[in-house]
Amino acid sequence: MEVIETKEALTQALQHCRDSRISIGFVPTMGALHPGHISLVERCRKENGVVVVSIFVNPTQFNDQSDLANYPRTLEEDLYKLSSAGCDYVFAPSVEEMYPEEDTRVFDFGMLDKVMEGAYRPGHFNGVAQIVSRLFDAVQPDKAYFGEKDFQQLAIIRRMVAMMNDPIRIVGCPIVREADGLAMSSRNMRLTPEQRKNALEIAHTLLACREKIGCVPLGELKKWVVDRINHTPGLRTEYFDIVDRDSLQPVSEYKENALQACIAVYAGAVRLIDNIRL
Ligand code: PAF
Repeated sequence: MEVIETKEALTQALQHCRDSRISIGFVPTMGALHPGHISLVERCRKENGVVVVSIFVNPTQFNDQSDLANYPRTLEEDLYKLSSAGCDYVFAPSVEEMYPEEDTRVFDFGMLDKVMEGAYRPGHFNGVAQIVSRLFDAVQPDKAYFGEKDFQQLAIIRRMVAMMNDPIRIVGCPIVREADGLAMSSRNMRLTPEQRKNALEIAHTLLACREKIGCVPLGELKKWVVDRINHTPGLRTEYFDIVDRDSLQPVSEYKENALQACIAVYAGAVRLIDNIRL
């Protein structure tokens, strides 16, 4: 496995793939890798001739500067995990390398980024689109892998690729959960044991919501979910919504197989997201 820090060196390293038509699979990450990331790398390994993983904590997608400052950085451990998972190239550029000048592009995702994460983290998805488009330019992958835990991000990336007429195939991969059900996240390592225990209520409540769907009016069900989370010590719901899986717009009526329940919850100062297909 080779660690590369510049776009130029990456282009050179991947030239043999383009010359010999070896497929390039790409997993963009911000590091602090957990088994959820590794499942993306393993799938990428199975489906491509060469695997590239980027590690870059992207400043333009953080609307909260303390969140950026506190984001875990664990490069040495990440490299060890990636090498064991069969990664070929790690692209770990500096901020200056990715943004030699300020990126002033503004993406128009219509209503897709006006709800949920987009509504509560202004500018977040614009920053995600800025960095992912730059990473796609640098890697020029055939396929790129994203986790469904960031359900809205996945929809935004699909839309961005369609808007830019990019031939990259975007592959969405299922959420990986801890044995007890908590969705894996780099932020979980910031939870105290007490918060970690309480946070489990998020996954349990989403599962219970799925059991109730179709039996209870949606408005009542949404209220039930928020009340149950907010009555758990130390948890505070930022948003909970039941949305159409494609448009991500909130729905008021049950539609079979077309809905996703999405939630953001604070466990103390740690912001966690999760979702489930209903
Ligand atoms: O999901 C993430 O880790 C980030 O948003 C991504 C896609 C690597 C862009 O910085």
